[in-house]
Amino acid sequence: MIFEQLSAGGCQSYLVGCAESCAAVLIDPEISLIDRYLALAARDGLRLQYLVDTHTHADHFSATQQLARQLDIPVAMHRASPAPFVDLRLDDGEMLVFGRHRIQVLHTPGHTRDSMCLRVEDRLFTGDTLLIGATGRTDLPSGDPEALYDSLFGRVLKLDAALLVHPAHEYKGRGHTTIAQEIASNPRLQVRDRGAFVAMMHNLNLGMPTHVTEALRTNMSGGKTVAQMLAEASAAVPFMSLDELKSRIDSGHSELVILDVRERDAYEEGHIPGARLLPRGQLELRVNQDLPDPTVRIVVSCEFGRISTLATATLRSMGFQRAVALDGGLKAWRANAYPLRPGKEP
Ligand SMILES: [Fe+2]
Repeated sequence: MIFEQLSAGGCQSYLVGCAESCAAVLIDPEISLIDRYLALAARDGLRLQYLVDTHTHADHFSATQQLARQLDIPVAMHRASPAPFVDLRLDDGEMLVFGRHRIQVLHTPGHTRDSMCLRVEDRLFTGDTLLIGATGRTDLPSGDPEALYDSLFGRVLKLDAALLVHPAHEYKGRGHTTIAQEIASNPRLQVRDRGAFVAMMHNLNLGMPTHVTEALRTNMSGGKTVAQMLAEASAAVPFMSLDELKSRIDSGHSELVILDVRERDAYEEGHIPGARLLPRGQLELRVNQDLPDPTVRIVVSCEFGRISTLATATLRSMGFQRAVALDGGLKAWRANAYPLRPGKEP
């Protein structure tokens, strides 16, 4: 069996392949590692067959949907998953076959209602049901400490004690452990009384994970993250540096329309000399009136260089093929002590 473990800020994902058939599965892929998964699969001569999320993640952005679209292969999750893009809805006791190997599904609710542990040969991918020296939390949507108790003490800990435990999170750089090691030393598993375990889980008082709202929104719906929106826009537009724009202004180039897409008050506080105001929120409404010539050369500016990238992509999709985004925003322009002009539009 070919096995690769990848970490992105403590989130663990796994590429597991069949050495004979070259079929592979990707477990809990994270969106920032997409190119790396594809590179590893290519390096190891693997063809990805399934993308599996052990549960609905609240703390990172799942790459399953984007990879599924890119590779035209199915996303598999437990049938309780709310995500509409799941192709294979799995249930307890079922298996997926890849090459000579089988992924056995154990439904282990508790961390979330749709949590699964996946067994492949001598390895158990425990998602956030069982972590090294900890368990998944139960205070996020669909979490249930009673269910986690049943899943752990009633099922996972009764499996072969020699099974290797591969969790979905590990922040201390430990690769894996075993069921036996966890039974012996995991502090939460020493609390074997049901009521005490549930009370302990209720009293963890953990802070919310960063990006929890966005992670749940995108992982549950298949929608895009803000970073994805920006990455897609960035890939679709050329940029102009601050220095280049400054030197073009200095040389009196008049063919360039400098478009400021911030709000009016920000514009009037100080804008790039010669810039015209067209707030992002009014772009589509005012574009025909304000920019009648689609062949005009436009450089789009905003405060941080992000909204201007989105606005430039919008302009390009509307046919302004010479629209470019300023690489950086007014914040950087100001920091460079480049000239700013206060006041209303001329
Ligand atoms: Fe989780």
